[in-house]
Amino acid sequence: MKKTRIVIIGAGAVGSTTAYTLLLRERADELVLIDANRAKAVGDALDMNHGMPFVGRTKVWAGSYEDCAAADLIVITAGAAQKPGESRIDLLKRNVGIFEQIVDQVLRFNTNGILLIASNPVDIMSYFSQRRSGWPAHRVIGSGTLLDSARFRYLIGEELQLDSRSIHAHIMGEHGDSELPVWSTANVAGIRLALDDEQQDRIFTQTRDAAYQIIEAKGSTYYAIALALDRICTAILRDEGAVLNVSTLLTDYCGVSDVYLGVPCIVDRQGVREVLQPDLSEQERTLLRQSGDKLKALIQSL
Ligand code: 2OP
Repeated sequence: MKKTRIVIIGAGAVGSTTAYTLLLRERADELVLIDANRAKAVGDALDMNHGMPFVGRTKVWAGSYEDCAAADLIVITAGAAQKPGESRIDLLKRNVGIFEQIVDQVLRFNTNGILLIASNPVDIMSYFSQRRSGWPAHRVIGSGTLLDSARFRYLIGEELQLDSRSIHAHIMGEHGDSELPVWSTANVAGIRLALDDEQQDRIFTQTRDAAYQIIEAKGSTYYAIALALDRICTAILRDEGAVLNVSTLLTDYCGVSDVYLGVPCIVDRQGVREVLQPDLSEQERTLLRQSGDKLKALIQSL
C-alpha cells in the first residue's frame, strides 16, 4: 500500500509544532521536514524520533525537495514571521521572494500533490503559489480563517459557557486585519446567539487581534495554527468532506473575483471540492468585498 507522506517546508515554530501535532495524532506514515537551516530540521527529526516508542510508527526525517516527489501534501510554513507591532502584510515582500524559490523547487519534483500554505500574509502567499505553480486552485489551499474561526468559537463559547465545538460561527475574508465576523448566520443548534452589541464587538476585536496579543507576549503563535493545519490535513487525507474556512481562489463570490480569501469550503481528497456561499447580510457582503479589494490592491502592487 502507498504510504501517506506529508512534507513540511519550514521547520520554524509553526512547522515543527505542526509536525509534532501530526506525529501525536498519527496522521501520516511519513513526515519530512525541510528547512533552509538544515541543522534545525535534523535536530527536530531526531528529537521526534526519540519519542517514537511512545507514539507509534510514523517515520520522520529531515529531507530535501526531492522528497516532495512522493508527497500527498506539502505544507509550507517557511518565511519571515511577524515581530511585535508588525502586521501580516508587513511580511509580504520578504515572503514573496522566499516563496518563488520554494514553489519552483517543489514543482521540480511534484506536480499532482496538494499545497497547503500557512506562511503570512497567507491569502496572498496562497494566491501567489497558485499562480506560480499553475496547479488548479482546488489543490492550492491557504489555512485562511480557520484559525480565526476557532478563536471566535472559543471566545463565544467562553462568553456563553458552552463547548466551542457546539458553536457554528465563521470568520471570513483576509486572515488579518480586514477579516469579518459573520454574526448573521452564527448559531447554536440553529438558534441565533444571544449576544448584545458590546459582547459582539469585544469578541470580534479579541479574535481579530489575538495574534498581536500572543506575539507581544511570547514572540510567535504556533499551537493553535498547528492544530488548524492538522485539521485541514486530516480532512484531505481522510477524504472527509469537512466544511472548513480555508483560503481559496474566489470567482464571482459576493462580487469578489481573482483573489484568495477565507470562506467556508468543502475539503476532501481533491483539496477544495466546493466553495460555499452563506447567505450574508448586506453589511457582511460589503466587508467581504472590502477585504478582497485590500488584498487585490496589494497583489497589484507587487
Ligand atoms: C496567527 O494568527 C500569526 O497568523 C498567525 O496566529
